[in-house]
Formats: sequence, C-alpha cells, structure tokens
Amino acid sequence: MSEIQFSEEAKRRFDTILSHYPEKRAALIPVLALAQREFGWISDEVADYVGQLMDYPPADVLSVASFYTMLHRKPVGKYHLDVCRTVSCWLMGTYPCVDKIKELLGVEAEEITPDGLFSWNFTECLGSCGTAPAMQVGDRYFENLKPEKMSEIIEQLRKEDESK
Ligand code: FES
Repeated sequence: MSEIQFSEEAKRRFDTILSHYPEKRAALIPVLALAQREFGWISDEVADYVGQLMDYPPADVLSVASFYTMLHRKPVGKYHLDVCRTVSCWLMGTYPCVDKIKELLGVEAEEITPDGLFSWNFTECLGSCGTAPAMQVGDRYFENLKPEKMSEIIEQLRKEDESK
C-alpha cells in the first residue's frame, strides 16, 4: 500500500476524470497529469500509487510517464517552462528565446533555479504552430514568443508567485 495519498480535492477530481471514460484504465494520462499537479512530478512512488488506483503495473505507468514530455520524471521548478522546438517554432525562433531563458534564469534544461521557482525544458509540438514559437507553463500557453518577451513573462510569473 502506498504511503502517499491524493488530497480530498484531488480525490474528487480523480472521480470526475474517471466518469469521463468508459473504463478506468483509459484515464491513465489525465490521472497522471492530476498526480503531477498534486505531487509535483511522477516519482516511482507516485507511479506505484497511480498504478494501484488504475489497476496498472507500475512499469506500465512508468513507461507512459516517460514517453510524454508533459509528464515529469524528475523534480521541476514551481513554474516549469515547456518550450516547443518542433519545426514551426524552431523556424520562428525557439532557440533565441531559449538563450534568453538561460540568460535570465541561469540554468540549463532540466535544472531548477536555486529558489526552486523555475525550470525549463524543450517539448514537442504544442498544437499552436500558427502562433509559433510557443511555450506552455502549467495550464497556460504563451505564444508569438520573442527573446525580449521572455523577461516580461518571467517577471510576470515571479510577481504572481509573490502575490500568493
Ligand atoms: S511546432 Fe511549436 S506549437 Fe507546433
């Protein structure tokens, strides 16, 4: 039996997610996303817990969690920047934006800033190719990125954090 547990709120969300699928096992990805929101990342312990909830062997849960870049198998910052590097974004300037992120945060991909607030990584197409380059931070999308826009976005996220 797992040591970790969803909060009461996450349990309610879990039930809601399951109600949208014809069978429990089909809901694995949204449940993993919920677990990530709840626990921050998909550790082995979280994968075990999700496996118990979903009737999946932990290895199956881990293989899914490892495949999707939106699911984190390592700790990430409170604000994790998923920067698209697929063709449209790459052509429209992902890499100059990433250079700016590195300059502003002082960390490489998959590293976390010393204050624990930020991390970043590349991801594949976010389905926002018409407004490339695009980046996802949690449930939010930032589009038509430019290097000079990155400081604004990071500052905005810092302010949001301070006001919490
Ligand atoms: S290529 Fe970046 S959103 Fe599609």
